[in-house]
Amino acid sequence: MRLPKPKSIRWKVAIPIVFIGLVSGLSVGLYSYYSEINQAKRNVEDQIRVAMAFTKASREYVRGILRPKIGELLASGCGGVDFVLEAQSSSFFTASIFKDVSERLGSFKLRQVAFNPLNPKDEPSEMEAKVINFLKATNSKEYTGIVEDTTGKQFVYASAVIPDAGCLACHGKRESMPKALLERYKPQYDPNWEVGKVVGAVMVTVPFDAVLAKAQLSGLVKGLVVFSIFLGIILFLIAALNYLVFEPISKLEHKAEEIAKGNVDEPVDITSEDEIGRLAQAFERMRVSIKKVMDLLK
Ligand code: HEC
Repeated sequence: MRLPKPKSIRWKVAIPIVFIGLVSGLSVGLYSYYSEINQAKRNVEDQIRVAMAFTKASREYVRGILRPKIGELLASGCGGVDFVLEAQSSSFFTASIFKDVSERLGSFKLRQVAFNPLNPKDEPSEMEAKVINFLKATNSKEYTGIVEDTTGKQFVYASAVIPDAGCLACHGKRESMPKALLERYKPQYDPNWEVGKVVGAVMVTVPFDAVLAKAQLSGLVKGLVVFSIFLGIILFLIAALNYLVFEPISKLEHKAEEIAKGNVDEPVDITSEDEIGRLAQAFERMRVSIKKVMDLLK
């Protein structure tokens, strides 16, 4: 199929500019959209990295200092109880600290989830289970990405939970768990975690819908600004062409019709000094000559 060719200079000029304007507006809009998203991702990643450094540090603190110390105390019969839950569980400890961190950072959420958890609230959601299974399947230690759950798009950072032998004292079989732990959590199954296998994840999630909406808006605005600039150029060009070319040409066209009909008395009143003006002067000379010839013939 062949497109009809435009019959007016106005369109011959306007169509390519509108086309270039649309393409440029669209590219600038898309570019701005994606760079905004990437920038937001980098910002969130940086913040998560800091938050995770704190989380890992507090975990190490429990593992390396608090838990052994409490173990010593309990072994020496001090305190009269067989287990001090809060201070011995690195997960409990980091969760408490992170609760405070996320209150300061706003939308950050930390979840420490695992299959067969001690605390039922640590059972993975559908989305969390997917991430854990991904870590398992790819044998990776970390995952970062955008995942959709029931509340919308989430930016997720997940670090695999891979138990060592020490973890099994509480996450192994029920018969070997501390009594106080059994009493508190009343697990209905043996967690049965295996040393060296991914069983869960420490996950930080940040809602990403607001970030996406902002990026979309910014892309739209930037694209529209570029398109408007091109639209402005078109309007200016058409107005200028109208004033400088189209109007004088239609005047001349009208004049030529008049001369063809034999009306040769009215002079051509175009006085500009550009190409159109010179054409009009040539027209005027032609009119005067024709008038002279006609006067002679009378
Ligand atoms: C002294 C007992 C104890 C030891 C040892 C222990 N944990 Fe836990 N862990 C707990 C308790 C208690 C909870 C439940 C905390 C809560 O209520 O949120 C827990 C919860 C967890 C959770 C959240 C899922 C769940 O089961 O509720 C993860 C993940 C976890 N621990 C990882 C580990 C890892 C990894 C190790 C070994 C490096 C370890 N834990 C060693 C006591 C222990």
